[in-house]
Amino acid sequence: MELSKFKALNDVDSVNAYISALEAFDGIAELQELKELARTRGGVAEGKSILDVGCGFGLETRRLAEAAGAKGKVHGLDKSADFIKEAQRRAESAGQSIDYQTGDATALPYGDNSFDCVRAERILIYLSKVSAALSEMRRVLKPSGKIALIEPDFSTNTINISDRALTRRVLDHEIKTAVENSFLPGSLKVALERLGFANIKISSRALIFPQELAASYFSSLAVNALEAGKISTSENEVWQTELDDLKAQDAIFATISYFLFTADAP
Ligand SMILES: C[S@@+](CC[C@H](N)C(=O)[O-])C[C@H]1O[C@@H](n2cnc3c(N)ncnc32)[C@H](O)[C@@H]1O
Repeated sequence: MELSKFKALNDVDSVNAYISALEAFDGIAELQELKELARTRGGVAEGKSILDVGCGFGLETRRLAEAAGAKGKVHGLDKSADFIKEAQRRAESAGQSIDYQTGDATALPYGDNSFDCVRAERILIYLSKVSAALSEMRRVLKPSGKIALIEPDFSTNTINISDRALTRRVLDHEIKTAVENSFLPGSLKVALERLGFANIKISSRALIFPQELAASYFSSLAVNALEAGKISTSENEVWQTELDDLKAQDAIFATISYFLFTADAP
């Protein structure tokens, strides 16, 4: 399952496969550390009003609701109706009150100065209008409210396939095609400063892929490169064979770096 290909979702099986991949990803210890840091630095606490932009099916949104408690109010917004339906189902079965709705990050359906905290994780990389989404997040934040953004940089992907030149070509193809903004973290500090955000703090973690997820993700990257004519059939075979061998030995070493930006609204 390709983690980056949510745009291609068009049937229940793909949605379910994508949900499984996101759950496996969510279980990565280094990402959990970054999420916890995002909650602390992002001001998440009892009684707060919080918005999760691009909430998916609510993996983190439900943790926010837990932290905000009965006195707080948590909202989740996503453009995928399938994900919002699944998020609502999960919240209901856990007895949590979360206000989920479908919508677009670049036109948030909330009034000015509505939230104490706004957060977004792995959504800005997909957007062609990142600054519009950031402006909207600032608009709906109360004065001095806190923003928390978690995004990866695709040029930090690593995999221990022995043919390094082949690896470079496969990963370069992913960088060029996976998402709209493969190098987004490098521009976020300036983007936040331009919008008047202050007290900007940046942290990162290199996420270590679990074996299953690494095997399926990095297998798909070579297939993509093959289909685009960037590698040959025999190179793909070499790649897939080595990946299978590494997996059989529990020896795939694959990583990607994620970055957390927190800041205070003007
Ligand atoms: C990789 S998922 C991340 C979901 C969730 N934030 C998480 O970390 O588990 C990306 C999410 O962004 C949503 N998304 C993409 N473009 C969007 C937009 N313009 N407005 C709102 N949500 C969007 C997708 O539907 C998807 O749920």
